[in-house]
Amino acid sequence: MTNSPDLDPRPVLLEARDVVVHYGRIRALHGVSLKVHEGELVTLLGSNGAGKTTMMRAISGLRPLTSGSVWFEGRDITKVKAHRRVVEGLIQAPEGRGVFPGMTVVENLEMGCYGRKFASKAEHKERLDWVLETFPRLAERRSQVGGTLSGGEQQMLAIGRALMARPKVLLLDEPSMGLAPMVISQIFRIIADINAQGTTVLLVEQNAQQALTRSDRAYILETGEITRTGNARELLADDSIRAAYLGVA
Ligand SMILES: Nc1ncnc2c1ncn2[C@@H]1O[C@H](COP(=O)(O)OP(=O)(O)OP(=O)(O)O)[C@@H](O)[C@H]1O
Ligand SMILES: [Mg+2]
Repeated sequence: MTNSPDLDPRPVLLEARDVVVHYGRIRALHGVSLKVHEGELVTLLGSNGAGKTTMMRAISGLRPLTSGSVWFEGRDITKVKAHRRVVEGLIQAPEGRGVFPGMTVVENLEMGCYGRKFASKAEHKERLDWVLETFPRLAERRSQVGGTLSGGEQQMLAIGRALMARPKVLLLDEPSMGLAPMVISQIFRIIADINAQGTTVLLVEQNAQQALTRSDRAYILETGEITRTGNARELLADDSIRAAYLGVA
């Protein structure tokens, strides 16, 4: 157990250095730095409007940086276009409920490979099988069209589709949003499982209990600044964190 990410012997896979992002004249991120080591599950925790989505967009290349940089496997990717980051399998972020409503579950999953090259058909099928095994609920509904899935199933489909591209880092922006408590714990179990099977995950959440329980480390983001970082379990046990994010005085 360590509080300092630098004591982690695993290589740093993803790093943001002093990221500043503006919306017009409003500065949404004031110099945010974070690191994700290979194999880690890291949470960026913050309340509404803290800048979590902005940070994810900066990392995935969807929002330009005013200053600062984003690094991947030791390479500065700040100038690499968002779609290149996906095609190269660096980073993949599922688009919330951006499920294609008229396409079946399997067709939706196939869309996740768009632009990505698989070595062989067999490798491609292996990936599809793995995603369907990870989400048995989707396997049962493989021929059902996306638009008729429940909210939780659509969230699973969005994550499954992102995984089809075999990303080295999976970025998840509030996967628990709008879901019932039972579905939320199911989604978090699956995320922990995906991570345990080798995919590095950077998770954005407001659900402190679930996210911190499942994570290795966490960063607390408040109005565009990182105010705390450390071991996730230690942060979960911290009184000020509990008061702020769990409503426990
Ligand atoms: N397109 C935009 N134009 C102007 N301001 C924006 C835009 N998008 C976000 N902001 C502002 O930037 C700040 C951070 O927003 P962001 O969406 O990153 O927060 P968040 O932490 O993801 O919040 P939530 O938990 O509600 O999703 C907020 O004050 C928000 O109003
Ligand atoms: Mg957000």
